[in-house]
Amino acid sequence: MSGVNEIRSAFLDYFRKNGHEVVASSPLVPRNDPTLMFVNAGMVQFKNVFTGLESRSYSRAATSQKCVRAGGKHNDLDNVGYTARHHTFFEMLGNFSFGDYFKERAIELAWNLITKEFGLDARRLLVTVYHTDDEAAGFWRKIAGLPEDRIIRIATSDNFWAMGDTGPCGPCSEIFYDHGDQIPGGPPGSADEDGDRFIEIWNLVFMQFEQLTKEQRVPLPRPSIDTGMGLERIAAVMQGVHDNYDIDLFKALIRASEEATGVKAEGKNRASHRVIADHLRASSFLIADGVLPSNEGRGYVLRRIMRRAMRHAQLLGAADPLMWRLVPALVREMGLAYPELARGEALISETLKLEETRFRKTLARGLGLLSEATEKLGKGDRLDGETAFKLYDTYGFPLDLTQDALRQRGVSVDLEGFDAAMQRQKAEARANWAGSGEAATETVWFVVKEKTGATEFLGYDTEEAEGIVLALVRDGAVVDGASAGETVAIVVNQTPFYAESGGQMGDSGTMTGDGFAIDITDTQKKGDGLIVHFGRVAEGALKAGAAVGMRVDHARRTRLRSNHSATHLVHEALREVLGSHVAQKGSLVAPERLRFDFSHPKPISAAELERVEAMANEVVVQNSPVATRLMSVDDAIAEGAMALFGEKYGDEVRVVSMGTATHGDKAGKPYSVELCGGTHVNATGDIGLIRLVSEAAVASGVRRIEALTGEAARRHLDEQDRRLKAVAAALKVSPADAVSRVEAVLEERRRLERELAEARKKLALGGGSSADTGGDSETVAGVGFLGKAVSGVSPRDLKPLADAGKESLGSGVVVFVGAGEDGKASVVVAVTDDLTNRFSAVDLVRAASAALGGQGGGGRPDMAQAGGPDAAKSGEAIAAVKAAMEAA
Ligand code: ALA
Repeated sequence: MSGVNEIRSAFLDYFRKNGHEVVASSPLVPRNDPTLMFVNAGMVQFKNVFTGLESRSYSRAATSQKCVRAGGKHNDLDNVGYTARHHTFFEMLGNFSFGDYFKERAIELAWNLITKEFGLDARRLLVTVYHTDDEAAGFWRKIAGLPEDRIIRIATSDNFWAMGDTGPCGPCSEIFYDHGDQIPGGPPGSADEDGDRFIEIWNLVFMQFEQLTKEQRVPLPRPSIDTGMGLERIAAVMQGVHDNYDIDLFKALIRASEEATGVKAEGKNRASHRVIADHLRASSFLIADGVLPSNEGRGYVLRRIMRRAMRHAQLLGAADPLMWRLVPALVREMGLAYPELARGEALISETLKLEETRFRKTLARGLGLLSEATEKLGKGDRLDGETAFKLYDTYGFPLDLTQDALRQRGVSVDLEGFDAAMQRQKAEARANWAGSGEAATETVWFVVKEKTGATEFLGYDTEEAEGIVLALVRDGAVVDGASAGETVAIVVNQTPFYAESGGQMGDSGTMTGDGFAIDITDTQKKGDGLIVHFGRVAEGALKAGAAVGMRVDHARRTRLRSNHSATHLVHEALREVLGSHVAQKGSLVAPERLRFDFSHPKPISAAELERVEAMANEVVVQNSPVATRLMSVDDAIAEGAMALFGEKYGDEVRVVSMGTATHGDKAGKPYSVELCGGTHVNATGDIGLIRLVSEAAVASGVRRIEALTGEAARRHLDEQDRRLKAVAAALKVSPADAVSRVEAVLEERRRLERELAEARKKLALGGGSSADTGGDSETVAGVGFLGKAVSGVSPRDLKPLADAGKESLGSGVVVFVGAGEDGKASVVVAVTDDLTNRFSAVDLVRAASAALGGQGGGGRPDMAQAGGPDAAKSGEAIAAVKAAMEAA
């Protein structure tokens, strides 16, 4: 048992057997600390358990924690590659007691593990204790039987461990391993303790206090234990090597780098291989935990680490991007212990490849400029700040890369000059945008951004985090604070809140802190890089500089994720069903629904909609993971990613793909691939269900689809179902028979309408049988006359009635006045052909219309029609016709 993987497992197993809960490493980006850049010790994830703010179901735990020491307070970046034990990334093995056991048991557990389980030679071990800690010294004597000269009392902060300026802390006791007198160096506390012979392997911290401010320290509720053992160091001891880079894990990574470059790790190339192996680990783990290279904050630390390694790849003569080719070796070595590494493999390789490809474009020219500028410089000289800044600004050389490149020659960089050049550039940028005519209320964001820098977005990986309030804005002006009832815009150094973009609405949620609570109602992007939270102080008062706990409204964000992923699936399904002319014209991803506008020249049939819905849901059921990768725009488009035409994208884009196509050219490939910065479900099954609810035109050639997902879709179906059941109940049939029953009822109704019309006609013509219609006729002006007021007959049925009347009279004049349901009248006058030379139907109908309060009317001499507002005057209308006939 001595491989890194075995040692890690043995450590965790040992503590599991001793009643400890084995807890997974927390992500490298701390969520429970407002300012810590990266997790740098095992205890970070338990910080609030030590102070009593948080409780867990266990009181003992053991972890193997991923740690990064670069860019923050603990920064080992500069030394990596040149020493035996510096790393940017390392694993810290630790056991923890939260008010359970204390010093004695902690010492016993540690001693037994290293001497019995790990088999370290007790004669090579020595310990330090804090100079006043007689108790710990006594336990070491009693448990380990160590003589007094191997229990060394240290009075400095070396033996008082603190996480930072504030937080849990306490005296500590360190265990050292003596690598032997062939290596120079003295024991801890001696004049030559900085030598490499005595190496600290394990630090046991007796957590007893909480540092509240610089001056104020209070006891913890219960004394606790926090320990940290560098896995790489203990592996070196157990593998009989002195140098961490000679352990099995690093040998495997260095071998991969040797094979990929064809250059042996010897002589001057040794450091380069080490840098590459170390930085490969840090970069890959950071990317797996959601950090992506950028020019700000954590993303910039990652970029510095990556580029530093990439320069060394170039030093080794690698002709093509190297780092990404080493990822499989890393996954092989560490993927089992850290599944996130295997899960993120594609994202890691692509991100490394993209960064190295881009950096190579300027690296050679930058190095050319650097060697020109330093040609005449020698040991002890300084490179001027202007050149260092030009390398940074134009050639993408992080400052530490330039320093690293000059290190071997003993040349340093004029840091004040570098800072001055940076400040000058910022001032110029400020002068430029000051004149750019932004609305006054918006200008404030550029002022804020200048001061605070861009906000770091953590919300792809977490919905909760802590941060520091950097600025508050009210009514377009920066303010110092806001109190209960006031609305305020808040800028925090980092945030899990998603700012509205790409159609996805901004997050809402809460911020809380010491004595205050804020309801966040919206989140927006402002000032080129700021994420601004808009909210109302619900209680207490908020001040700039306060630490805040931020919590995104989880239920709402979950629905936003579902609706965003569903939008991608519907988009692709539309293209499949309607054709590739379908292009996104706009979209809204809201919590309650999604709306998607796209180009298509005509309405979509019900059958097409059904297919779209079925296809999108097919991918939901696949329940395949949603993958996010970072690529150059060109690569993304080459992979078939859908991008919005005319949209401005940065050099690097997020590519979101989901599902697997089951047929056509794309069979086996991702179903949907889109450039997208939004938040998505983890796997398509999380969407639950997609239901299209409407389809309409919004502009010429642009259609709009609205859809629901998950619970909303289910409720919609429920509602439809309820309606169907109500219809069936009213029809007194089962839902399955409802359609045929409705058809039968409609048919029956049509038949009855026909019969009714027939009956009315008969009635109008005088009741009884058709032969009898002459019964109501009379003689007017010497000719036959039939005049009737009818109801329940539609205007268009009056003409056939008049025809029938003419027929039954044989010769004469017919008048029918119909009363509509609205109280208006329509009137038809018909004159048999033999009489049209005596009477004009048109003249007669005008007389009738006038009597009905109307005017006009028209038609032919044998048949004319008119209307009037007052059906109650039907009798007068008939009389008017008679009078007109008499007068003719
Ligand atoms: N937290 C302690 C350390 O980092 C164990 O050394």
